[in-house]
Amino acid sequence: MKIIGPKAYIHTDRLKQNLWNIRRHVGDRSIMCVVKANGYGHGAIEIAKAIQQEAGIILAVFAIEEAIELRENGMENELMVFSRMQAHSISKAVELNLTVNACDISDLEALTHYKSSQKSVPKFHIKFDTGMTRLGFDIKDQDDIFTFIQENDLSPEGIYSHFATADEGDLSYAESQLNDFNHILETAKKYHINFNYIHCSNSGSILNVPESYFNLIRVGMLMYGVPPSEEVSMDVPVEPVMSFCGPIVNVRRVKAGTQISYGGVYTTDKETNIAVVQTGFADGFPRPWYENGYVSYKGQHYKIAGRVCMDQLMVDFGETEPKEGEEVLFFGKKDGNEIPVETIANEIGTTTYVLLTAIHGRTKRIVIH
Ligand SMILES: Cc1ncc(COP(=O)(O)O)c(C=O)c1O
Repeated sequence: MKIIGPKAYIHTDRLKQNLWNIRRHVGDRSIMCVVKANGYGHGAIEIAKAIQQEAGIILAVFAIEEAIELRENGMENELMVFSRMQAHSISKAVELNLTVNACDISDLEALTHYKSSQKSVPKFHIKFDTGMTRLGFDIKDQDDIFTFIQENDLSPEGIYSHFATADEGDLSYAESQLNDFNHILETAKKYHINFNYIHCSNSGSILNVPESYFNLIRVGMLMYGVPPSEEVSMDVPVEPVMSFCGPIVNVRRVKAGTQISYGGVYTTDKETNIAVVQTGFADGFPRPWYENGYVSYKGQHYKIAGRVCMDQLMVDFGETEPKEGEEVLFFGKKDGNEIPVETIANEIGTTTYVLLTAIHGRTKRIVIH
């Protein structure tokens, strides 16, 4: 059966090239590829399958359920779970060889308790909060944390932190976070605690803060070929991995003065061709984009006509006569069409993270090798 409806084309050749370019930029380091939130909307399985064989790739997800799904689909790479560790999930983490996140003394207590009863413990990284004020041990507790680790003979595989502003023009806050992180590393040395992995770099700091690379970088957005913000200078060449497209299912000639879509906020000023495209906000199309937005068809931009509906949207093609069954591009880069997702994010006051992870509903992901 022919698939009618929105499609997210996933260009795995670009994904791999992006990774190589990032690798060239950061040098000889391990790379943790962040495939949480269904691979930032690209499909976690599809993305992980495409990169799992590349050298030194560690995968990261947020929830343990996402990790289980990757394991069930045959992904054997090291796999980290960023969410707050849950004591009841420790045995699952051991069974599936997952790396968990310890960020509170109760997490270390739970690991110690598990170790004493089961004689094993999952791999874990300890996370310090240096300024994000999300998950992470408090800096002031560092001596207590390292003492606890030492006294209970725990061996964290890694230590990490997360930047709040590394993708901004003003890097002073990120630099102070990095200073604090370096100080924590010094303290760990005093306790003779060594880590296989030290990391705090995300896409913003890969571009902006080379001192933060340590021996592992964590990368999400940049790998998907999109700048993490408009304030970074893009020294790493990347191309968008997703092209989000929708099919034209109907074309009608309408008179001047015809109202289009809900609320009648768009009225044609001359006789024109109006196409119905089978994609709506229920599929992840950013609804506010209709106000000034456009789609791309055969290299030209055409205005979205009126409010985006749940399942469909209309496009004003003027004198151009598109055919039913042909596709328009909403964002990405494909077949001579290009609309950067960051352009839409800037125009409607949101972020590329929000737009990409919103892709869902009836959108089919088509992997292009
Ligand atoms: C802990 C952690 N590390 C790394 C990343 C990847 O960030 P980015 O997509 O900006 O590279 C994220 C994403 O939010 C994250 O939560």
